[in-house]
Amino acid sequence: MNAAELQSVAKAMVAKGKGILASDESKGTCNKRFDKLGIPTTEEYRRAYREMLFTTTGLGEYISGAILYDETIRQGTKDGTAFIKVLTDAGIIPGIKLDAGAQALAGSPNEKVTEGLDGLRDRIAEYYQMGARFAKWRAVITIGDGIPTRGCIEANAHALARYAALCQEGGLVPIVEPEVLMDGDHTIERCYQVTEEVLHTVFNQLYIQRVVFEGMILKPSMVISGQDCPQQASIEEVAAATLKCLLNTVPAAVPGIAFLSGGQGNELATAHLNAMNTMAESNKPWALTFSYGRALQQPSMETWRGDDANASAAQKALYHRAKCNGAASTGNYSEEMEKNAEVAIATK
Ligand code: 13P
Repeated sequence: MNAAELQSVAKAMVAKGKGILASDESKGTCNKRFDKLGIPTTEEYRRAYREMLFTTTGLGEYISGAILYDETIRQGTKDGTAFIKVLTDAGIIPGIKLDAGAQALAGSPNEKVTEGLDGLRDRIAEYYQMGARFAKWRAVITIGDGIPTRGCIEANAHALARYAALCQEGGLVPIVEPEVLMDGDHTIERCYQVTEEVLHTVFNQLYIQRVVFEGMILKPSMVISGQDCPQQASIEEVAAATLKCLLNTVPAAVPGIAFLSGGQGNELATAHLNAMNTMAESNKPWALTFSYGRALQQPSMETWRGDDANASAAQKALYHRAKCNGAASTGNYSEEMEKNAEVAIATK
């Protein structure tokens, strides 16, 4: 492991004004989103969609890295240029999703544990060889009656830490993603409690597995009201609670925190990130940015709809959300940015 190289990649992933494009939907997840829009669920359409995203002019101004799925990292543009080269040429670091998905946790049917550790060392070596320089592993924590259990939190934290240690051994910067789901009617206070316990446990496990904090990125969910909670916390409340939770759990040595969007509205996810950066100003040890999937891609996918004739408008929609989130990562986003945009309609 070369700690200096890991650290320099991790820093580049959270460079000022930039964030990460999560475009690592598995075949199943991508197909589900395509299906809703009437886009054919074939390998060729998934490839064409990613080509549209990755060839967006100027994307590298706001996007530092893109997370790919196994199918995607082996694909390229119609004219045969590998996506890895397209991204690298645009100044975007290619990353790879390494987890094999969340499966039912034995003994607790409503909870999940993420699998994928078997054979991981060899997979990491292959992806590194291909040009990937960072990776992602997502753990899923559900809030509900009597859950999450301690068993679920510990199993997921342990897997995240073993994955992160293997990544660093193989030269990849691990994105450590413990997602506390927004599903449910829980309050923001309950979300705080669970997120705090999860993050404490994850960092304890990362420490036990000797993960170098300087060479990793945390990808958490925000501290937010459950989506069915009648009392929805305001933007300022979400920003304050999330900041407080992170300041209490995430070591200062971690270079950056890149949030997932988790089903929040596109503009709300941007506003939350902006509020945190405005509130914290310089009073935070790490960069706070985005690693959004849906909140970056949704307007673009809805504009594209599988038709090449819409590609240019779809790219504008992606560029616009990347630009807004880039501004939010330095606390410089405003609603005006949405109004002024040529693609404002498409991004609602
Ligand atoms: P969302 O931003 O759509 O939650 O996706 C981020 C991600 O990478 C989920 O693993």
